[in-house]
Amino acid sequence: MATISVRTKRTAVDRLIGRPIDWLKREREKWEKEGLRPWVWRNFLVEVWPFFYDKKTIVWLEKDLLDDIEPIEAKVRAQIKVVDDSGDDLAPSLVKAAEIGWRESNFVAETLEKGGKCYVAVDGNNVLAYLWITTRSVATKEPHLGDVDCEPVLSENEFYIFKVFTFPQYRGLRLIPALIVAAAQDLKSKGYRRASMAVHDWNNPMLRAAARAGFATCEIITRYRLFLILRLYRRKHIRPCRATIRPKGGVKLR
Ligand SMILES: CC(C)(COP(=O)(O)OP(=O)(O)OC[C@H]1O[C@@H](n2cnc3c(N)ncnc32)[C@H](O)[C@@H]1OP(=O)(O)O)[C@@H](O)C(=O)NCCC(=O)NCCS
Repeated sequence: MATISVRTKRTAVDRLIGRPIDWLKREREKWEKEGLRPWVWRNFLVEVWPFFYDKKTIVWLEKDLLDDIEPIEAKVRAQIKVVDDSGDDLAPSLVKAAEIGWRESNFVAETLEKGGKCYVAVDGNNVLAYLWITTRSVATKEPHLGDVDCEPVLSENEFYIFKVFTFPQYRGLRLIPALIVAAAQDLKSKGYRRASMAVHDWNNPMLRAAARAGFATCEIITRYRLFLILRLYRRKHIRPCRATIRPKGGVKLR
């Protein structure tokens, strides 16, 4: 399996400011796990620091659907279903799942109404994992790379995967690669030629699942924000990107 590894160059700013704050975050998680209350000043620093310095990196991945697509078997018994209508029997389970996964309850009805689709792995009526897809002609707010202030414009025959989620007890069972490949096969037969998705650089499980499903990195976009207003961007091109990723509000990327 080809792996996707994301290595961005560490800048002087990262070393001077990023490292201490990463350390503080790790410390805080440790204290929280142990049920200890972090010192007030440290907690304050973790909350307030992002106003001074914040770094976000998004990896843009694409998969060509021109070649044959080999199905992937999940390691658990699951059936794959497509939900594209709020009247579907599975829709109430999806609302619950969206609340757990993304704490958004209106999302399901709104997205289905606008034309988005959900591919769900189920065992009976029990939802194990799901992913949503949208296309250029669908009026959902996705694709949307808010963390790096960018707005991708999909090409005509491309679909975008978002809100991917596997319930914790079913993780590592290849449900998401199986779902992605099933969606790709289904949409390829409807004329789609490319799939894309955006993943945070820290999300290794998702990067591994995407690599297993045949996605490759096209671009790595990093946004540094200093003192809330000063924004610096780095775009690293790995391979030609078919979607056009444009900065929102005319922010210049470099
Ligand atoms: C990312 C996510 C969707 C992956 O789904 P999945 O069905 O577990 O996918 P896979 O079975 O292919 O596992 C992918 C990787 O997760 C990791 N993993 C394995 N078991 C795991 C477990 N019990 N818990 C967490 N991660 C695990 C492994 O690194 C695995 O890669 P590997 O099989 O090559 O070792 C899932 O972890 C998840 O729902 N995360 C929270 C939501 C999220 O981050 N969504 C993505 C937003 S873009």
